[in-house]
Amino acid sequence: MQSPLPRWIAHRGGGSLAPENTLAGIRLAARLGFRAVEFDVMLSADGTPFLIHDETLERTTNGHGPVCATPDRVLHRLDAGQGESLPTLAQAAALCRELGLLANVEIKPAAGHERQTAKVVARQCAVLWQGAATPPLISSFSMDALAIARDVAPEIPRGLLFDAVPADWLRQLHEVRGVTLHCNAAHVVRDVLAEANASSIPVLCYTVNCPEQAAMLLASGVSAFFTDRLDLFAETSAYKALQLGG
Ligand code: G3P
Ligand code: MG
Repeated sequence: MQSPLPRWIAHRGGGSLAPENTLAGIRLAARLGFRAVEFDVMLSADGTPFLIHDETLERTTNGHGPVCATPDRVLHRLDAGQGESLPTLAQAAALCRELGLLANVEIKPAAGHERQTAKVVARQCAVLWQGAATPPLISSFSMDALAIARDVAPEIPRGLLFDAVPADWLRQLHEVRGVTLHCNAAHVVRDVLAEANASSIPVLCYTVNCPEQAAMLLASGVSAFFTDRLDLFAETSAYKALQLGG
């Protein structure tokens, strides 16, 4: 994992400034000075990992039906917004490496596909980032997926992802040999932060779109934030240059 961990992580690629989970979003995050991006990865019917958040295609593309029932040749032709196509994990990895970005690869399995998704994504991460100065950080809400990632690609760091953090989170973290705790900023509590800080485990909160909330969480011991508001948290000079067409 990149050390020190970047404080700001562009959520779903380019946050709300670009179609989510697209290469355009990742490029934009880099142009704005972000050093880390998060994206969601799910398997197609052919078993290829694509960047997409929902189990179905309707919300973010012009396609229809479940992602896991759609073959690659159909997914490749879809529009994910503004003419962007759905990237594969391989394309996103190549771009992150080219741009020097830390990638937080969230394994987002369709229900019932946890094991297969984790196996493929972890294997691909190991190959795609082989020899990279900055390996990706794999995360998932699925502990089954993280356990498989641990076994398939132990060298790739793992983060546990929760909405509200359960009382036994540290036991779960040790079980999957995780290195970071990712949780919903709306539900994070002082006790969890104290426990994480005492164990030197970085806490990453999603989704933080307000500077006041970020300042408060930072003061409470949160290390990093996923944000949709790339405009608010971008390196000011880079953003200004972009607005001016630079
Ligand atoms: O990984 C942090 C965050 O992305 C988790 O929520 O639903 O946006 O994938 P979601
Ligand atoms: Mg996500």
